[in-house]
Amino acid sequence: MEKPVYILGIESSCDDTSASVICDAKVLSNVVANQEVHSKYGGVVPELASRAHQQNIVPVVQQAIEKANITKEDLSAIAFTRGPGLMGSLLVGTSFAKSLALGLEIPLIDVNHMQAHILAHFIHDNENKTPPFPFICLTISGGHTQIVKITNYFEMEILGETIDDAVGEAFDKSAKILGLPYPGGPLIDKYAQLGNPKAFPFTKPKVGDLDFSFSGLKTGILYFIQKQQRINANFIEENLHDICASIQYTIVEILMEKLRNAVKQTDIKHIAIAGGVSANSEIRKRLQLAEKHFGWTTYIPKFEYTTDNAAMIAITGYLKYLNNDYSNVSVTAKARLKVTE
Ligand code: KG4
Ligand code: ZN
Repeated sequence: MEKPVYILGIESSCDDTSASVICDAKVLSNVVANQEVHSKYGGVVPELASRAHQQNIVPVVQQAIEKANITKEDLSAIAFTRGPGLMGSLLVGTSFAKSLALGLEIPLIDVNHMQAHILAHFIHDNENKTPPFPFICLTISGGHTQIVKITNYFEMEILGETIDDAVGEAFDKSAKILGLPYPGGPLIDKYAQLGNPKAFPFTKPKVGDLDFSFSGLKTGILYFIQKQQRINANFIEENLHDICASIQYTIVEILMEKLRNAVKQTDIKHIAIAGGVSANSEIRKRLQLAEKHFGWTTYIPKFEYTTDNAAMIAITGYLKYLNNDYSNVSVTAKARLKVTE
């Protein structure tokens, strides 16, 4: 029997410090330390994020190894997020991964965060099904909104993407207008459960082909709220559920319309979602309905593999490890990195 492969994944691209150990494609541990420090600023403060990563990285990695019930000498390789992300944050994970790999004399593997969100679908878990190639993935996070065609693990093509804000930003900035703390996406989702999605119609952007635009929607929401507040100062408090449901409905409508276009253009009906916004209950519901209505097969990740996590970095590292695709120790973090790089 072949020796099991243990990969330690390290993720520090934005405001979550995470470490995970996987054995072959099974997750043994996935520890995430969120940074509370940003909520009062209404967004991630890069300088504070990198400082918090420095405090968190050693205990988070230690916990991941302990929870996996292995010792660091059992590790076969170390995978880390090279980019895209905030430079100061990426540097913490990159430097730590390099030092540990050098110390343990094991391979170092750099991982593209955007590929990792997509490849999280290949984690072996009794509950999830794995998409066949080719498939389409809608990657929706705080920093990205893309429709990607995946022909093989590392053969990806961007079919469409946002020309301005990411969909997560649309959620977070709308939440900020409503006075909700950062990150507001999960709160909009929560309040939307009790609201009427058709209460307030917001104009959908007109943008070509498979691309997205969210900045106009955010401005539209701001002007609408300001106008209503001039008539009724308590407008937000009295209508919070309906406002959230209407915002969420409009955003999900935009995403679903583009996905339908992508299916039409490519004739691929295996549809996956990835990234933090794929935790949203409405997009999950609509995708399940699409199985019935349009004959799609949909792939929806478990909650813990949607928002930033190191298990997705570890699985991507594992797939690269199988190809002997290792990094040189002179590899550097890269703040801007395309999913195709
Ligand atoms: O993938 P992620 O953790 O970080 C980035 O790489 O950006 O995504 C974070 C984004 C935030 O904008 C957050 O508000 C959004 O995902 N998000 C949600 C939900 N959960 C997280 N947006 C809408 N509904 C949710 N349930
Ligand atoms: Zn992410």
